[in-house]
Amino acid sequence: MKHLLSIDDLGSAGIDEVLALTDSFVEVSSRSIPKVPALRGKTVVSLFYEDSTRTRMSFETAAKRLSADTMTFSVGTSSVKKGESIRDTVQTIEAIGADAIVVRHRSSGVPAQVANWASAAVINAGDGWHEHPTQALLDTYTIQKRLGSLEGRHIAIIGDIKHSRVARSNIKAFHAMGASVTLVAPSTLLPPSLDGWPVEVSHDLDSTLPTVDVAYVLRMQRERMSEALVPTLREYTERFGLNSRRADLLSQTAIVMHPGPMNRGVEIDAAVADRANSVVVDQVRNGVPVRMAVLFLLLGSGSEMFGSIDSFASEMESVRV
Ligand code: NCD
Repeated sequence: MKHLLSIDDLGSAGIDEVLALTDSFVEVSSRSIPKVPALRGKTVVSLFYEDSTRTRMSFETAAKRLSADTMTFSVGTSSVKKGESIRDTVQTIEAIGADAIVVRHRSSGVPAQVANWASAAVINAGDGWHEHPTQALLDTYTIQKRLGSLEGRHIAIIGDIKHSRVARSNIKAFHAMGASVTLVAPSTLLPPSLDGWPVEVSHDLDSTLPTVDVAYVLRMQRERMSEALVPTLREYTERFGLNSRRADLLSQTAIVMHPGPMNRGVEIDAAVADRANSVVVDQVRNGVPVRMAVLFLLLGSGSEMFGSIDSFASEMESVRV
């Protein structure tokens, strides 16, 4: 695998490989000096055309913990403001030197286009409504750690599915790992066609919640809506918000997830987000070792240096910076 553009690039075997490798990097991240020399001499560039808090900091931290050099491109302070095209920007980045380019853009397909132009490895950090594969990997890892496995689990994805790249990547990953997925949303927040999507649909959150192992709540992505798709936000919150009364309908062992950024009081109540069964902070924490695993697999020195993931894991035990 040269690039990570979609969960389809991995399949269930690839997801398993990333998750197994993640365990080694969780161990590295728990050290007093959470750093290994695995990608020394490599350069990882973040090319973010859209706002981000978690994803960008997480990728940059992951790269640094692997001893890679990092470069950050921020649209607001770059020559994009002077009209430079994405293609010229990519060419410039490669001329300076990049082994991996982490791309986020508001349009679907931009990371794939960058992959056509660049010789570096390209990682999709979210493109339009299309995909956000590393978010799906860190969510899958988080569920596996909390619930043991995804096999046979029932996961509800609640809210603005239509505009959500997180939903699209997560549905693929959860399905590949053996979970069943129910989308819970008003019709206006579902895609026009769900043909080929391995999901059930419900418009009734109260009756779905008692049956699930995971309640995965999405943000109302107002910046991606071109028209009003719900009568008012208050009415949306009334019908689909995860409030305390609804969270009480969940089973004792069920967990609550959200990719962030949360709009507390809209799709999720502040109190629910902070309950003991909410794993929102774990999701963010797991993002770093998951992205370390992805960078390590793509930049390839792992196989050259250690031969296999097993020998890599034992090797990491002794390797420190
Ligand atoms: C999401 C994104 O930007 O795709 N956030 C994230 O990466 N954790 C979800 C969102 O914008 O709501």
